[in-house]
Amino acid sequence: MGRLRAGDINGARRLGAMHCMRQKTIAIKPIAESADAPRAVAKPESNKTVFGNGRDVVQPAIFVPDGLELDAPNRCNGLLLLKELRSDSFPLCFFDPQYRGILDHQRYGNEGERQRARSEMRQMSEAEIRQFLQGIDRVLMPTGHLLFWTDKFHLCTGIGPWLTGTNLDIVDLIVWNKLRIGMGYRSRRISEYLVVMQKAPRRAKGVWALHDIPDVWDEKVTGNTPHAKPIGLQGRLIEATTNTRDIVLDPAAGSYSVLKACQRLNRGFLGCDIAG
Ligand SMILES: C[S@@+](CC[C@H](N)C(=O)[O-])C[C@H]1O[C@@H](n2cnc3c(N)ncnc32)[C@H](O)[C@@H]1O
Repeated sequence: MGRLRAGDINGARRLGAMHCMRQKTIAIKPIAESADAPRAVAKPESNKTVFGNGRDVVQPAIFVPDGLELDAPNRCNGLLLLKELRSDSFPLCFFDPQYRGILDHQRYGNEGERQRARSEMRQMSEAEIRQFLQGIDRVLMPTGHLLFWTDKFHLCTGIGPWLTGTNLDIVDLIVWNKLRIGMGYRSRRISEYLVVMQKAPRRAKGVWALHDIPDVWDEKVTGNTPHAKPIGLQGRLIEATTNTRDIVLDPAAGSYSVLKACQRLNRGFLGCDIAG
């Protein structure tokens, strides 16, 4: 059996090559208890309110590409992982792109070790981010959510065009107060933004189970991993948008903060990072 390999997969040429190899090298195996798990989404019980306290949707069987492990770090190109997954099969995906926009447009001076480590990480072009969004759109279940990390620069310059041609709609925004002061020409950055997107049909009732998550969230992340995201916030959002034992996807997982949140919450995890 072949393994999914990590690679410096830049652009369509390399991806095209991997695609040709796919039939031969990648076997898939069912991992959910029932391959007949329902794929359709139930309708809301009543139209009287848009809120509901539970979830009426169930994740269908999913397939894990050969060479990747559930509930563990995997070294792999996230675009390749997305290509191998069944359509309409995940209730939740996190996506935290390695933006190059801010680095291209703004240059700071004395940045320190953490910022230097950040600028050395492999960055994603706009075209690559769009490819991720299209892949995520395909694999999300109807009503499934995408939690998309962004920064002030991209929030202000607009992520809307990246969604062209997808079924994803922006439905909410959460501000993460990092409790750690950063750089900035005018105000100093202390926050990041989590854009909540939903694949059509767009609704909260029967899909979003918690109603006590504030839209400004204070959480300090310790350690030196650049870009590690808050496990507490991600955990609450996982509880809001998935059922116990659902499998959450993160195709560019970095420090695997989403895996850590899933492990605390009795959720499965499927994810990878090109750097391991
Ligand atoms: C912003 S970081 C993710 C941080 C993560 N959310 C966390 O909490 O640690 C983005 C990650 O994307 C990875 N990456 C870049 N291109 C990728 C690709 N094509 N496939 C998978 N991962 C990729 C980088 O190696 C980096 O670790």
